[in-house]
Amino acid sequence: MTCRRGALIVLEGVDRAGKTTQCKMLVQALEQSGHQAEMIRFPDRTTKIGQLISSYLEKRSNLEDHTVHLLFSANRWELVPLMKQKLEQGINLVVDRYAFSGVAFTSAKPGFSLDWCMHPDVGLPKPDLVMYLQLSLNVASKRGEFGAERYETSVFQRAVQKRFEQLKEKDPLVNWKVIDAARSIEEVHREIKILSEKAISAAENQPIGELWK
Ligand code: TMP
Repeated sequence: MTCRRGALIVLEGVDRAGKTTQCKMLVQALEQSGHQAEMIRFPDRTTKIGQLISSYLEKRSNLEDHTVHLLFSANRWELVPLMKQKLEQGINLVVDRYAFSGVAFTSAKPGFSLDWCMHPDVGLPKPDLVMYLQLSLNVASKRGEFGAERYETSVFQRAVQKRFEQLKEKDPLVNWKVIDAARSIEEVHREIKILSEKAISAAENQPIGELWK
């Protein structure tokens, strides 16, 4: 490696936790302090696979549950060459949802184990930092109605939250940090920025890891 690699930084959490806002603020803050940074979000709805997923989420089509799980995973794998290229060029990637959402959302459906759900994502680029924006569903619901897409109901989100917690406990090889997302946007941002700067320094001389291997 000729230059220091970028860090892979993931934000996760239930809907309304502020992930997208925080990802955008983090990219801007990192750039202002002299780092290269770009945001990616999953699902990436711009690819052919992403369009199938988008149509499913918007309830314009139905897909069998295992099938849609594998499509979400394929949608991450199709971006891996580009992600690796950017990380190797020293660009820090700030990612809005990743394999952890994949596992938490599918395993919240009846009949899906965490193990089964994790399998297709084994070997993806391993995040250097996963920040889990924790927010009670009572506070989340005060931030406005859930949207109209599939999964956007409080019953399902409660099940997803439980699965995120179980995954976090089961996952000692991933650098999870829990962020209290009930605080102000600025306070949450400050903590996210500090943790990210640390992860960037720690990652720069390390090879890119493989998730869940
Ligand atoms: P978004 O609202 O952040 O665009 O996310 C789209 C929805 O897709 C959201 O309800 C979470 C869900 N999802 C999965 O079910 N599996 C996945 O792998 C990912 C990334 C998201």
